Amino acid sequence: MTRGCLGAAALALSLLLAGPVVAKQADSIAEPNTQVPVGNRHYAATGFPDRIVASPAQDAARGVGVSWRTDTTVNAPVLEWVLAGDSPDVGTPVRVVAATRALDTENGPAHYHRADMSGLAPDTLYLWRVQGQGTWSAWNQLRTAGAAQQPLTLLYFGDTQNKNLSHVSRVLRAGLKAAPDARLSLFAGDLVSGGDGQDDSEWGEWFAAAGWLPQETAVAPAIGNHEYVEEFEDTPQERRVLGRHWPVTFALPRNGVAAADTSTYWFDYQGVRIAVLDGTSALDLGSAAAQAAWLDKVLADNPHPWSIVLLHQPFYSPREGRENAELRDVLLPVVRRHRVDLVLQGHDHTYGRRGEGDAATPQFVVTVAGPKQYRLSAQARATMAPVGEDTQLFQVLKIDPQHLRYEARTVTGRLYDGFELTRRADGVKQKVELTDGRIAPRDCTRTQTLKGRADRCWE
Ligand SMILES: [Fe+2]
Repeated sequence: MTRGCLGAAALALSLLLAGPVVAKQADSIAEPNTQVPVGNRHYAATGFPDRIVASPAQDAARGVGVSWRTDTTVNAPVLEWVLAGDSPDVGTPVRVVAATRALDTENGPAHYHRADMSGLAPDTLYLWRVQGQGTWSAWNQLRTAGAAQQPLTLLYFGDTQNKNLSHVSRVLRAGLKAAPDARLSLFAGDLVSGGDGQDDSEWGEWFAAAGWLPQETAVAPAIGNHEYVEEFEDTPQERRVLGRHWPVTFALPRNGVAAADTSTYWFDYQGVRIAVLDGTSALDLGSAAAQAAWLDKVLADNPHPWSIVLLHQPFYSPREGRENAELRDVLLPVVRRHRVDLVLQGHDHTYGRRGEGDAATPQFVVTVAGPKQYRLSAQARATMAPVGEDTQLFQVLKIDPQHLRYEARTVTGRLYDGFELTRRADGVKQKVELTDGRIAPRDCTRTQTLKGRADRCWE
């Protein structure tokens, strides 16, 4: 045996005696916000369509909006749609020419395209694809919203915001596995963190994390404060302005209030009216009264048995030191007056649910999908149940004309919270808590984050 072979044999023996190598827990270095190193253009636009996302039209039984991205060689590309069949011969699709807008970012210039499918039939499976430079996306299948009496499954996610590829993707995958029949995905805002010069790579990671979800469910996001940017920071002229990605990234209904026309909208989805508010604009840009008047009208006209309000900042904050008084003073009376069933929120990176007094509705929920985790206030522990820290969650809602069943599940699929609203013949809603199989509320067990922040649990 040569000396080299002897050395290798000795090393193999020593490894055998030492047992398996166990990686030391990464206990000293906080993970970066994206997996993309600064300066890396992994998510630069190309001639291949990407960031493809469908969203509900105002009448989601009849229409779908689609947005996608390419490089700047593509102008006014085409969206094709056709009734879905079982043959690869898809037939002759309808073609819609997209409107194109430019966006220049740290990943270089890009074109974003929007095309709207309209005149669709309810509860019908469609095939659709979008065009790039001499190429196409996959054919995607999406079913339109059905009639109001049909049962609906939808997904609701809190803030994704940070480490979307690393830590958020498993939450979105777990949600889709738990509810493979979901047709609609609601996001409570702060999809990305932004403001770090890597905003475009963050959006790239969000779409990488979401996989096929934005093409095979209709995505309806609320805007978060992190979709805004600070201009002239730390000067007297400091102000919040809408981030440049938001208006081009989603093809949302154009029916919002004028004061926040790209970030407020409403739509009807199979027996539910869903109104989406812009909490940042309400709190920081003075549009609370205008949004309240708009919401009042949207809810007054609701012909459906159920209503949901989706917004980023919560009416009742579970986090210490946060109060959104203007939301409570100006918008909450409208929510109460119309007896909104669910108020779905994010922003506080914890879990908490509450109602008001003995009333079954509204139920106010704050949840979080991403890895950034805050701490609950003592007031939240006294006024909300269940509450939770240090837990990544997704929510599955099942709705028919008589029932609305809500489940919050941890990323590993365990039931964290659940209740069911039942609608009596006279329209009154009653609530039953679903406690079977729920795990115990979870608390943060760390004294500080890896970066040394004692006011947070993880970041
Ligand atoms: Fe936020």
